[in-house]
Amino acid sequence: MQVLSTKAEFREYLENVRALGRTVGLVPTMGALHEGHLSLLRAAGADCDVVALTIFVNPLQFGAGEDLSAYPRPLDRDLELAEEAGADVVFTPTTDEMYPEPTLSTVHIEQLTAGMEGASRPTHFDGVTTVVAKLFNIAGPSRAYFGEKDFQQLAVVRRMAADLDQPITVIGCPIVRESDGLAMSSRNIYLSSAEREAATVINRALRAGAAMISAGEGDPAVIEEHMASIIEAEPLAELDYAVVVDPDLLITPAALISGTNVRLLMVAKVGSPRLLDNLGVDVP
Ligand code: PAF
Repeated sequence: MQVLSTKAEFREYLENVRALGRTVGLVPTMGALHEGHLSLLRAAGADCDVVALTIFVNPLQFGAGEDLSAYPRPLDRDLELAEEAGADVVFTPTTDEMYPEPTLSTVHIEQLTAGMEGASRPTHFDGVTTVVAKLFNIAGPSRAYFGEKDFQQLAVVRRMAADLDQPITVIGCPIVRESDGLAMSSRNIYLSSAEREAATVINRALRAGAAMISAGEGDPAVIEEHMASIIEAEPLAELDYAVVVDPDLLITPAALISGTNVRLLMVAKVGSPRLLDNLGVDVP
């Protein structure tokens, strides 16, 4: 496995790969790899000839007072895990390499970024789309793998690639969970053992929402209220939002339509971290 730290080296490596007629699977991450990231690397390896992992903690997507300086950066362990999971090349640029000058250009996606994470973290998505657009430009034509845990991010990146004709196929991969249902996240390490136990309420609330839909409830407001009440009953959890949305438009429908699919999205703070989770549900 090659570890490269400059944009020029990474671009050249992947250009050479494609010149040999081989395909590239790109897995952008901020490191602190867990089983969720490794599942993306394995999916890329199953589909593509060469797996390219990027590890970069992107300052642009952190707001003031967020955990940028505390964000875990266990690089040696990440490289070991990445190699085991089949990465062929890892791009680990410094902030100066990615942003040699203060960036005057920002990629902004309308509408899809307005609610949910965009409402709670107003500068977040511009930071994500700007760095992902840069990574797409550096890596060149590829298939790019993102986890469904950040469901809104996936929808935003997919739309960016389509709107801007980026030569990238964006692939969403299923959430990987701990055995008690907690969605894997690099931020789970911030949880104390009591908070770790309390955090399972998020998945329980989502499953309760899904059960209501399967039982015939068609009013999103009733489902959202029920999910919220489950979180509110857990003293260590503080609800940010619990919503039922159309999976592509990310808007709450007036009523659920039989035969469609909706996504339940939830964020709650448990201790210091905000934990994200979501679930797709078929409307009977
Ligand atoms: O999901 C993440 O880890 C980040 O938001 C991403 C896509 C790597 C951009 O920095």
